[in-house]
Amino acid sequence: MAVLLRGRNKYEMYLVMKKNRQLQRYLPDTMMWSYENFLRMLSKYKSVVVKPNNGKQGQSIYFVDKTELNYAVYINKKRKVFENHLDVFKYIEKAAIKREFIIQQEVNLAKIGERRFDFRIIVQRETNELPWEVTGILARKGGKGYKVTNRRHHGIVLSLEDALKSMNVTDETKASKVKLVKKISLVAAETLGCSFPNQTIFGVDIGMNQNGSLYIFELNRWPLLGGFRSLEDKTQINRIMALKRKK
Ligand SMILES: Nc1ncnc2c1ncn2[C@@H]1O[C@H](COP(=O)(O)OP(=O)(O)O)[C@@H](O)[C@H]1O
Ligand SMILES: [Mg+2]
Repeated sequence: MAVLLRGRNKYEMYLVMKKNRQLQRYLPDTMMWSYENFLRMLSKYKSVVVKPNNGKQGQSIYFVDKTELNYAVYINKKRKVFENHLDVFKYIEKAAIKREFIIQQEVNLAKIGERRFDFRIIVQRETNELPWEVTGILARKGGKGYKVTNRRHHGIVLSLEDALKSMNVTDETKASKVKLVKKISLVAAETLGCSFPNQTIFGVDIGMNQNGSLYIFELNRWPLLGGFRSLEDKTQINRIMALKRKK
């Protein structure tokens, strides 16, 4: 029996996906926020991301980098330096006592120019008895000075074609990457669809690191569609809206 879930709890969704062997290698290592877990993650990864377990639109996301001398924490366009991990912990803990946070291994996102980018994929089913299908895919490029790619933080939406132009690999490699992004999104939606039986849409956030490996950041149960609406080609948004209306 599938574990039934409610709300937007990233960690619970992560645990459900982690049980699916097909998805395991596409999930960045994730733990709940605590001092012990923070130390554990920092000993495993050079950089980690701390974010609200129920966050949205790139709000309150801390990127922590361990350097030889100290720790740098990036929040939006701000950078703060700390001498040791306890000071970093105390700083983030001020926000984390008010709401639950998670710690995730940082994915060294591929870039377009100097800007990091990732993918947003829309997966839908007409009714909860029909199969899931991928109905939209686009790329989001972070705003200048930002590590998050959300539009809310000056991220810019690009068509998949435009994003792929900047990739320095063969057309075959690009095509197989896109196919894999869609496949992972579909399997993720199928998996979480069992935990949210009435869900008919997911917005999947997938990042690609500089070696081309893919990672699922999260699945959104109430994805904003403005990015798709803003694309010049309306094929995807029309299809997304048509399917939304059918349910
Ligand atoms: N582990 C990570 N590694 C690198 N970038 C990340 C990571 N987690 C989040 N980000 C960046 O921050 C953005 C927002 O994070 P996400 O997990 O999607 O939360 P939100 O619900 O706020 O959108 C992502 O789209 C990505 O650009
Ligand atoms: Mg997101």
